Amino acid sequence: MKRRFSDIEVQSSPHHETSKNNLLLYFYTLRPPGLTMIQLSPSLLIGKGTERLCYQHPDDPQKCIKVTHNKAHSKHQNEKDAVYYRVLKARHIPFTHIPQCYGWIETSLGSGLCFDLIKSDSDQTLPSLNQGLEDHTFSLNEIRPALNQLYQYLYQYRIFTSDLRETNIICQPKGTSWHCFLIDGLGDRDFIKLAAHSKWLGHLKVNRQWRKFEKRLEKWRPS
Ligand SMILES: Nc1ncnc2c1ncn2[C@@H]1O[C@H](COP(=O)(O)OP(=O)(O)O)[C@@H](O)[C@H]1O
Ligand SMILES: [Mg+2]
Repeated sequence: MKRRFSDIEVQSSPHHETSKNNLLLYFYTLRPPGLTMIQLSPSLLIGKGTERLCYQHPDDPQKCIKVTHNKAHSKHQNEKDAVYYRVLKARHIPFTHIPQCYGWIETSLGSGLCFDLIKSDSDQTLPSLNQGLEDHTFSLNEIRPALNQLYQYLYQYRIFTSDLRETNIICQPKGTSWHCFLIDGLGDRDFIKLAAHSKWLGHLKVNRQWRKFEKRLEKWRPS
């Protein structure tokens, strides 16, 4: 029987679940080997990062599945994403500038984490911020309002990043303007998570991370 993955709550690695609900979810995510495992073929590949490959979901073109390719140097980004998305879901933040995460899926390439696939209205894959700037799809000035909106979003909902960089931002055309999605590099790396529990510290942290990102953007400013 085919499982409806969209019903599954975000969970950390299934092997670490202990609570009753999570245990139920764990069994719910189990697939009989060979019968319901999702096959990921090269034709579905959307993008490749330093650690993960991103494939279009073969049964749902609106979603993607990320699997680890660089296992030797893995920083366990899928596991970290699953944990942080669970925190965000518990806080009921809107998923307007980050893709929704739908939990784990077994694939032919190992366990993958499923997300909304960010595409154009005409179903085309979209440039990352650095691609768009490099090939002059937009200038920094043109994308600036969309970046400001992304900053406002991170600030308002105190969403922390561990790898805020141009390659992790996807730019979607919206009429004559743009909308930015942060598709990777979320997370709270603090050992003692003080900023997660204080609005004031949380805002300071978002500002600090954004200032660092702005420094990275300087190289794209017209001279
Ligand atoms: N939700 C998404 N929607 C559309 N494309 C995506 C999405 N997530 C990742 N990608 C594409 O896949 C690439 C690699 O994904 P990413 O999560 O950045 O991997 P890594 O963690 O290895 O850096 C991205 O640069 C982007 O092109
Ligand atoms: Mg990345």
